[in-house]
Amino acid sequence: MSDAHRPAFHFTPPAHWMNDPNGLVYYDGEYHLFYQHHPGSSVWGPMHWGHAVSRDLINWRHLPIALYPDEHGMIFSGSTVVDWNNTAGFGEEVLAAVYTCHKDYQETQNLAYSTDRGRSWTKYAGNPVIPHPVPLSDCRDPKVFWSNDLWVMALAAKDRVLFYTSPNLKQWEFSGSFGSGYGSTSGVWETPDLFQLPIDGGSESRWVLMVGVGDGASTGGSGTQYFIGDFDGKSFVSENPKNTVLWADFGADYYAAQSWNESPNGRRIMLGWLSNWQYAAVTPSEAWRGMFSLPRQMSLTRTADGIRLAQRPIVELQALRGERNHWQDGIINPEENLLAGIRGECLEILAEFELDGHATACGLRVRVGKEEQTTIGYAIRQQTLFFDRTRSGKSDFYAGFAARHTAQLAPHGKRVSLHIFVDRSSVEVFANDGLVTFCEIIFPSASSQGLELFVEGGSVKLGQLDIYHLKPANLCL
Ligand code: FRU
Repeated sequence: MSDAHRPAFHFTPPAHWMNDPNGLVYYDGEYHLFYQHHPGSSVWGPMHWGHAVSRDLINWRHLPIALYPDEHGMIFSGSTVVDWNNTAGFGEEVLAAVYTCHKDYQETQNLAYSTDRGRSWTKYAGNPVIPHPVPLSDCRDPKVFWSNDLWVMALAAKDRVLFYTSPNLKQWEFSGSFGSGYGSTSGVWETPDLFQLPIDGGSESRWVLMVGVGDGASTGGSGTQYFIGDFDGKSFVSENPKNTVLWADFGADYYAAQSWNESPNGRRIMLGWLSNWQYAAVTPSEAWRGMFSLPRQMSLTRTADGIRLAQRPIVELQALRGERNHWQDGIINPEENLLAGIRGECLEILAEFELDGHATACGLRVRVGKEEQTTIGYAIRQQTLFFDRTRSGKSDFYAGFAARHTAQLAPHGKRVSLHIFVDRSSVEVFANDGLVTFCEIIFPSASSQGLELFVEGGSVKLGQLDIYHLKPANLCL
């Protein structure tokens, strides 16, 4: 990616390759963000844990590489906890990272700790803490958290998630498994996450098990699915039939999503890798490759179809808002473009459509240039939201990149609301309070900065429309 595509407010490595987010933990005023990193190249290779910290999840400070490959192998994905009570004997309040080492197709789980707020790391001398579990393959990406006076680990293993418990992060006991035939099994399962959320903010709650599916996801390639159910401290049970498939995002570029441990005020905040294994290595990049989605606040809501995730951009993002344009209660007619006078490559858009006319479709086009546009639209009769990047800019690096992706979305009453973030090489959409989201990368020309509000087949009422120009975040403090 040339610098014209380097994001203004999405996290990127200072240089070279990045894939999954790892070890997300909040401690002593800092959100830690580690990531799968190849420091010598802009393609995947010997994996390290890169490292950055933030006080607000918006502005980031890059720190030296935290974990280097060792005799146990490359450092694959994993998680970090705060060992408040010194269960492992490394000291009180140490940060402890539990991660996979990959060597000769063997995957073991390993432990490292930091006594200085993540600035330096010591590998545990007794590694690995879980040997390669013959005969299973692809056993990786431990997500560890504290629950009911024990450490719990969710570990991906080919087509299932294995669960372990431990009193001290060193000795682990197998406690159950979930999967093998549930949900999407079209690709290897990776990067699990497991957490409990209240339903509609009330006293009832459910557990959510998130799982990366390495291939064959709804948009092709890798994608993130989730299960809703119960976790009794030992294993997970889904409350939906085996063949229910729930996707966390309907765009092509939301993978390996992880949430922060220890996040203050009970918020469950999550982000994902804004790419897809299908083409991650060939996106038009030079100096750097890979970025993360915006952090999302996760919640559960009851819908006509059952309990579903609702994901909203974190409120901290409002700090980036600059100049605002506002419209209220207008009528949008075909062939008119209310937004003809507005241009921008970094925008936040909040649009509310009221669907009671004859229109067949409505929506917005962003990053519009002479021959380029990216469309976020709603097909009214079909009740589908679509994201169209068939003309979004550079796409010749991968045959299936220039595509249109869709998701079912019933209007809320007669309303459809879209909350959209446009950055230099990505668009994220949160529809109807986060019930449906799209996360996608695009590579438009720097000059494609036009905006269009469109309607087809009749007019549509505009409840409200706000467009903010966004200031760049500080991504290298
Ligand atoms: C997911 C993944 C993980 C693995 C890591 C290697 O994208 O394949 O399963 O730990 O990437 O970089």
